[in-house]
Amino acid sequence: MAMPEPFPAALVDRRPDRATITADVLAGLSARPRTLSSKYFYDARGSALFERITRQPEYYLTGAELELLQQVLPQIAAQVGPQARVVEYGSGSGRKTRLLLRALTDVVAYTPVEISRTALLDSVGALAVDFPDIEMLPVCADFTAPPALPPARRPARRTLLFFPGSTLGNFVAEQAVAILRGMRAAMGPHGLALVGIDLDKDPAVIEAAYNDAAGVTAAFTLNLLARLNREIGSDFDLHGFAHRARYVVERQRIETFLVSHSEQVVHVAGHAFAFAAGEAMRVEYSHKYDDARFAGMAVAAGLRVRQAWDAPGRMFGLRLLQPA
Ligand code: AVI
Repeated sequence: MAMPEPFPAALVDRRPDRATITADVLAGLSARPRTLSSKYFYDARGSALFERITRQPEYYLTGAELELLQQVLPQIAAQVGPQARVVEYGSGSGRKTRLLLRALTDVVAYTPVEISRTALLDSVGALAVDFPDIEMLPVCADFTAPPALPPARRPARRTLLFFPGSTLGNFVAEQAVAILRGMRAAMGPHGLALVGIDLDKDPAVIEAAYNDAAGVTAAFTLNLLARLNREIGSDFDLHGFAHRARYVVERQRIETFLVSHSEQVVHVAGHAFAFAAGEAMRVEYSHKYDDARFAGMAVAAGLRVRQAWDAPGRMFGLRLLQPA
């Protein structure tokens, strides 16, 4: 009798290697303002810290999205129909995934595309236990350039792309449209996408979410430097920078920086970078949307909003998209 394949055998691994990360960091530190990509936040500690952020009282996004999802999942399941293949960009803790997989009928396969190998293996390992009938086909890769999806054993009637958490908001409009366009290609002509977006609201509420009183977000941001020191041998002084996150109303986004406490020199792969006292290095954007702006991005990607659901007080939104 054929034995089931052990889970790691199914893993498609396209993690960025040391040379790729080093090249990215050197380019970012040479730019003005200096920048580091937020995609490198998610090593094992970064993923654990992000999970803690989602449970901070100020970080309204996750709670609002979970509640909304629970309410509207029967409607979503009716539109998706049975035997779908679910592809998720970023696998996170799996809380939302669990709700979705439970609500849909006879899901054929689940493919999380996630850059953090630890987060990916943890989440899919746990899901495999709870959903033994769903084929788990994890892909460890950057979802801005996902590889071809591994083939599923059973044919699917349609593909549902799941992109929750307002992770799309971590990209500038041009990149966000490119990601949506990639989703449009991956879902095929009969596919759907379910996207979570944070909605524009009172700047004080948004700003508090990125400056929690317990300091978890600050630790999350600073962990980026510890990760780079460990993985590419840079020598960022972990006490030499401070977290700063502000909401820029006219750009509808949180801009997060690491601000140098003093004049200092950082070394990366034989290059020296001099920071001035107070110099701010950009590490993340978190865009917030209104309906017109999001619908415009969808159209630019060859998609249209089929249905929109908002949490009470427009705290968070879910959008079901289909090819235009
Ligand atoms: C993953 N992403 C949607 C989070 C956000 O809200 O932009 C990451 C985060 N950064 C700071 N807090 C949370």
